[in-house]
Order: sequence, then structure tokens, then C-alpha cells
Amino acid sequence: MTNTDTNDGFVVFDRVQKSYDGETLVVKDLNLAIGRGEFLTMLGPSGSGKTTCLMMLAGFETATHGDILLGGTPINNIPPHKRGIGMVFQNYALFPHMTVAENLAFPLEVRGLGKSERETKIKRALEMVQMGDFGNRRPAQLSGGQQQRIALARALVFEPELVLMDEPLGALDKQLREHMQFEITRLAHELGITTVYVTHDQTEALTMSDRVAVFDDGRIQQLDPPDVLYEEPKNSFVAQFIGENNTLVGEVVEMKPGDLCVVRLDDGEVIDAKAVNVHEVGQRTKVSIRPERVEYNKERIPEGAHTLHAEVLEFIYMGDIFRTRLKVAGNDEFIIKTRNAPDQVRLKPGQKIEIGWLPQDCRALDA
Ligand SMILES: Nc1ncnc2c1ncn2[C@@H]1O[C@H](COP(=O)(O)OP(=O)(O)O)[C@@H](O)[C@H]1O
Ligand SMILES: [Mg+2]
Repeated sequence: MTNTDTNDGFVVFDRVQKSYDGETLVVKDLNLAIGRGEFLTMLGPSGSGKTTCLMMLAGFETATHGDILLGGTPINNIPPHKRGIGMVFQNYALFPHMTVAENLAFPLEVRGLGKSERETKIKRALEMVQMGDFGNRRPAQLSGGQQQRIALARALVFEPELVLMDEPLGALDKQLREHMQFEITRLAHELGITTVYVTHDQTEALTMSDRVAVFDDGRIQQLDPPDVLYEEPKNSFVAQFIGENNTLVGEVVEMKPGDLCVVRLDDGEVIDAKAVNVHEVGQRTKVSIRPERVEYNKERIPEGAHTLHAEVLEFIYMGDIFRTRLKVAGNDEFIIKTRNAPDQVRLKPGQKIEIGWLPQDCRALDA
């Protein structure tokens, strides 16, 4: 086993590869252990292999190489309906000719449950998603959000140990989506269900998950809890994909004791950074700094820190925060964010300022 995770490995992908055409691998070398009761999100751009992974776990696709284990047992040869997995997909529509109650009865009938047991479970599942009065409606008589809640109830009604969700909220408007994000995580944690959730929406991933696996090009680029992912991206792809990020390009000119380094940017200016993904002098690097970690108030820039000259290009008032666009070291898309506090300076276009940061907040990553 090549896993380094320390959880109980309720779901395990062990060196899984997948090719649809026998030539290109769309999943390249997947090693992932998901703990019982964990809410794990697969996040990544379109085409990065997320759905394929979920389909293999569900049993609708087979792995070309490697094993998938559920509760320690390889599931390669267990048919989908015997895996005890609940599923909610964006296009996994409710049966339109059936009522809500009939939709929920279906997975129970498939599993051979009797009528009275079915009715008890359906009632409980509907109450769980606050749709107790809607059992006799047909899907067409429900709003999008209500339909999605029923889809969720149908996935949970047979009390699966594992639920898979593939972009289940993609079709909903913002307000409803945020409400459902909250409902889903609440239910999953209350019922102790292990959840594998797929999305390309980073905010959704950060707010809902215990851990997030960031996918790109058929590989997990980083697997970490949301705060670690955001604050300690391990490579340029993750830094760029998660949250807003400023990138400055240059070359390592000094490796310092501890984990710090000095980088000469391509326009000649010099900055301090944390050596995350660089190892020696001469290496090209993209340094990454979050907009809210940039300081222009001199009193808050640490003593001895290198600072950079910047020109204010645009000031955007956003209510709770100010978003200011700067030109820094040739990059005119450099963003800083500041909280709208009573004493906060509102920068003006044309102003020349100096910016700085804690070296720890500036990460020298792969170029
Ligand atoms: N049934 C299929 N047959 C052939 N290629 C597929 C099939 N499903 C997905 N692919 C390809 O596999 C890659 C990964 O797709 P997918 O897993 O759907 O990514 P994601 O869900 O991250 O958008 C893509 O290049 C996609 O075109
Ligand atoms: Mg997909």
C-alpha cells in the first residue's frame, strides 16, 4: 500500500489507473484513503478525472489498474447495487412518473424491504430534508431546490454507509446552493455518513469538507484540510486554483537557514520568501502571496523585510473589504484586500506605495 494517510481507510484507492481508450490515462496514479465518517471532496478543473474516480467507486466503471477497497474488501467484482452506496448526481434525475414517496421507495424495494418498514424509512428521510408534506407530489410539482433535497433523501433513505455526490448543486442558484451546502454537511455529520463529494467550485469544497483532494490532469496535486490547502499550497497549480493568489516570477539567489530564501524577481527587485518548492540557488520560481497577507501600512511590515514598489491602478469598494489592484514588479494584476475598518486607508489610482509581507506568507513554488 502506498498510502500515507493515517485514517482507518474505509474507502481506499490503491494505485488506481483508468484509461477509456487503452492509450491515455485519465486517472494516473490514485492513492487515497478516506476515513469512516469523513467528508472528502474531490476538487479540480473540468476533465481532471473526478467523475471517473467516483464512477469507479460506484461500480459504473472499472479501474484499468489497481484496487478500490471498501471496508478493507476489494470491490472490483461487486456489482453497483450491492455496494450499499447512495448517490446524488446533478443529472441523476428523479423518476418523473413517480411521486416523491415512490421515488424514495424504489431503493428500498430493490433491497427487498417490506411495506411498513419502507413507510417508516421514507417518512424519516423526508423529515430529514424538511420535505415531510411532499410525499404525494410529483417531481414536476417541485422547485429545483426541493427536487435536489428529494434526490438527497433518496440517496440516504436506505441508510448507506457511503454517499457519493457529483456536482449535486451545480444547477441551483447561489442562495439555494449555499443553503444546501449547509444541509448536506449537517446531515452527513449527524448521520455519520462517509461522503465523497465532487465539485469544481473551490468555495464549496473549502466550506463543506473535512479534507479536499485537488485534482489536475488525473492526479491528486494536494490532499489536505481546507485551511492547510489555502494557507500552505504545495505547488503553483494549487496556489492558483484555490482562492485568489498573486504570482511573481523570478530566480532563487540565496537559500537561507531555516526554510527561507531570497528571490530576485525578473524586473530586478528582491524579496523574501519561504522555500516551499525550491531547493537551490539559480532555480526559477513562481512566488505566491495571498491578497489579504500583503501589507502597505509601513508600521505593519516587519522590520528588515524586503519591500517592493507598487503603483495603485484601481480601487474597488466592496463593502466589507477594499480590493485594490496594483502594478508590482511588472505584474499589473496584483491584488490586495483590506478589511473596511474605520482607520483603513483608501488607496487612490496613481498613488505610489511600498508593500511587504511576512516571509512565511510568501511561498516560493515551482515555476
Ligand atoms: N465514458 C468516457 N469515455 C471516454 N472518455 C471519457 C469518458 N468519461 C470521461 N472521459 C474523459 O476522461 C477525462 C476525465 O473526465 P472526467 O472524469 O469526467 O473529469 P471531471 O469529472 O473531472 O470533469 C476527460 O478527458 C474526459 O473526456
Ligand atoms: Mg465531472
